[in-house]
Amino acid sequence: MIYTLTLNPAVDLELTVEAFRFDAVDRALASRMDCGGKGFNVSRMLAILETASTALGFVGGKSGERLEQTLRSLGIATDFNWIDGETRTNVSIVRANHGQYLKVNEAGPTIGQAEVEALIDKVSGLSRSGDWWVLSGSLPPGVPATIYANLIEVIETAGAHVFLDTSGEPLHAGCAARPTLLKPNLEEARELTAATCAADADSAQVARALLALGPRQLVISMGREGALLVAGDDVQLVPTPKIEERNPIGAGDSMVGGIVCGLSRGDILADAVRLGVACGAATASRSGTELGSMQQVEALLALIGDSIPVQK
Ligand SMILES: Nc1ncnc2c1ncn2[C@@H]1O[C@H](COP(=O)(O)OP(=O)(O)OP(=O)(O)O)[C@@H](O)[C@H]1O
Ligand SMILES: [Mg+2]
Repeated sequence: MIYTLTLNPAVDLELTVEAFRFDAVDRALASRMDCGGKGFNVSRMLAILETASTALGFVGGKSGERLEQTLRSLGIATDFNWIDGETRTNVSIVRANHGQYLKVNEAGPTIGQAEVEALIDKVSGLSRSGDWWVLSGSLPPGVPATIYANLIEVIETAGAHVFLDTSGEPLHAGCAARPTLLKPNLEEARELTAATCAADADSAQVARALLALGPRQLVISMGREGALLVAGDDVQLVPTPKIEERNPIGAGDSMVGGIVCGLSRGDILADAVRLGVACGAATASRSGTELGSMQQVEALLALIGDSIPVQK
């Protein structure tokens, strides 16, 4: 089984307007609601790849019910921790045909200590040997930065594997708990290794410094430059296919979906990363919050060249 965890979800509301006007009432040309949350994006990519997953996380109120319904309508199982308060809404107002937008995110409800403990208990009760757990994204107010580190210990002690994708302090603390796999982008990787790596260090040096912080294996995504796969002394550059980029936001989540899909069916890491690269490229070629389709992923996968070993 694959579990995805989204601790800080949101209802994403996008309104399209003709023009931005202050002190006036406008009618939206179009509106669209999406499930916001990096773990949810991973589950959505898995559903496109016809791979089952269960989405977990903190949700509350009517917005939480909306998220649950939307995910279930996509064929994604959910097993949420219901909290007091209402899941936040993030609003984007987009100007039609101009690429301009305003985005306002709610802070969202503060999570209490008992709610954090209930989540750890749930994860502990579900963890079984051989499963994959994707822990993704930022933390809501009230959740300690060590939460991913705690969960990694619980999950990996049960013989399951953690795939961690976050940033900042939760990433730093999470690394030390030795997750099976980590997927930062290059910027997150540089930030994490700033204490030991010069600012002009190349990506392979950053990768090796990051591996020393604890993760067992590492994939560093680098947008249109592809991805570095790092396991032990072996560092390989996996090229990404050339695409016309429309919206790269979420490409990393799609990549995580592709990689975990491959690993859960027994692919070796190098093959799983190729699938991940194809998923990331497929999503980067779509506009808005749309993810790549299965057909696109298959077509792009066939275009990926050989991996290139990176010398020490
Ligand atoms: N413009 C692009 N051309 C080709 N492939 C791309 C492009 N953008 C992204 N990709 C593919 O998707 C992968 C993940 O993208 P990226 O490095 O931007 O992730 P990210 O910064 O973690 O994104 P996010 O956190 O917003 O989901 C890349 O390693 C690459 O394979
Ligand atoms: Mg990312």
